[in-house]
Amino acid sequence: MAAASGRGRFITLEGMDGAGKSTHLATIAASLRAQGRRVLVTREPGGTPLAEKLRQLVLAEPMDAVSETLLIFAARADHVARVILPALERGAWVLCDRFTDSTLAYQGGGKGVPTELIRALARQAHPGLSPDRTLLFDCPYEVSRDRLQRAGRPPDRFEGQSRAFFDGVRDAYRGLAAAEPDRIRLIDGSRPPEAVPPLLEAALAGL
Ligand code: TYD
Repeated sequence: MAAASGRGRFITLEGMDGAGKSTHLATIAASLRAQGRRVLVTREPGGTPLAEKLRQLVLAEPMDAVSETLLIFAARADHVARVILPALERGAWVLCDRFTDSTLAYQGGGKGVPTELIRALARQAHPGLSPDRTLLFDCPYEVSRDRLQRAGRPPDRFEGQSRAFFDGVRDAYRGLAAAEPDRIRLIDGSRPPEAVPPLLEAALAGL
C-alpha cells in the first residue's frame, strides 16, 4: 500500500526462528528513532490483551492447522484495529515482528492450509492494509537450528516441528519474496550479526 506522507509506515519482519529477526528488530527501531521517527514496536500473534491470550493458546495447545489459522487471524484483526491502524494514522512507524506472510509461510507452506483461505481471511482482517516494506531474514535450516540450540531455548510447539515443515516454510517465504520483490527484501540471516545492519539500512531505503 502506498503510504500518504502524514501517515506512518508499516514495516514487518519475517523469517524462520533463529534467522536473526528478533536481534535486528531492536537495531532497526533504534535507527529509525535516531532519524526522528516515532516508532511503535509490536508483534504477532499478540500486541493487544486479547491477541496475547490467543498467542498463549496457539503456541501451547495442540490443534489442527485450520483452527490455528482462525485464531491467528482473530488475534490479527484485533491487533490491526486497536493498535496498528491508529498508530499509522497518528504518523508513527509501526515495526511488527511477523504478520500475514508468517501465516502464508507457516500455516500455508508448512502445514498445507490453502493459500486462498489465508488470503480471504487477510482481506477481512486487514482490508486494504499490507506492509509498506517487509524484511525477510532467510537462512539455511542448519544455521537456524544451531542458533536455537546454542541459545538453549526450550522449543515451543512451532520450533519442535520436523525438517520437512521448515523446508515448506522457507520455500513459501522465498516464493512470496520472488512474487513481490519491491515489498519483500531478503536479508541473508546466515551472516554474522555485526555484518547485517548495513543490509537493513539498504532494505529500508526509499520509504
Ligand atoms: P515468534 O514471536 O517469532 O517466536 P519467538 O517469540 O519464539 O521468537 O513467533 C512465534 C511462533 O508463531 C513462530 O514459531 C511462528 C508462529 N507463527 C505462525 O505459525 N503463524 C503466524 O501467522 C504467526 C504470526 C506466527
